[in-house]
Amino acid sequence: MSIPVVTIDGPGGSGKGTVSQRLAARLGWHYLDSGALYRAVGLSARNKGVSLDDPAALAGLAQAVDIRFQPAADGRPAPVWVDGQDVGDALRTEETGHLASRVAQFAAVRTALLDKQRHFLQVPGLVADGRDMGTTVFPDALLKVFLTASPEVRAERRYKQLKEKGLDVTLLRLLGEIRERDARDAARQASPLRPATDAEILDTSRLSIDEAVDVIFQRLQQRL
Ligand code: C5P
Repeated sequence: MSIPVVTIDGPGGSGKGTVSQRLAARLGWHYLDSGALYRAVGLSARNKGVSLDDPAALAGLAQAVDIRFQPAADGRPAPVWVDGQDVGDALRTEETGHLASRVAQFAAVRTALLDKQRHFLQVPGLVADGRDMGTTVFPDALLKVFLTASPEVRAERRYKQLKEKGLDVTLLRLLGEIRERDARDAARQASPLRPATDAEILDTSRLSIDEAVDVIFQRLQQRL
């Protein structure tokens, strides 16, 4: 019997990360934060002085990079270790998000990360969060969800998250960065950000996190 996967794709700030983690906890399934892999490659490139315009070197980095997630505790984001170092908040900054979206443009980088992502597929099941989970990484997923929300709502959510972490940001700048990142993610040739043809689209602009989790949980129950 194949191991069940729920894919949750969508743009940054759509609620994907929190919704996916809570859904995984409720189901007792594993969780893949695929964005963290791209962020780790971006960070590693910057730390090692690898050019963001050199796909072959970046793909080599993606192949070699050692990324480990520690289990999350007390509802806080899971600590992530990149090449043996706890990268702390550096992984979650807007700057790292920008680096991630630069390296994620290259097909060779995406291919290098495919196996790493598929390794997360273990019993009893997986909730996979990203941009191309349903279209490319897990095309046979049991349930595919595409979360959206207006850019303004997404910028506000991001603003609150970053402020809570004590990071210095402005709403207007975040909105600009979100629009820029959306445009790059949707326009790239390799696995552009778009819903799978068989994905269920869920607009979370007016939903709480718990409401979004409930909707997805119920849709999943109908398929299990
Ligand atoms: O989801 P998160 O904001 O952590 O993702 C950072 C960037 O990594 C995205 O803007 C996108 O460019 C890239 N990404 C991707 N494919 C994924 C996950 C993330 O291209 N599956």
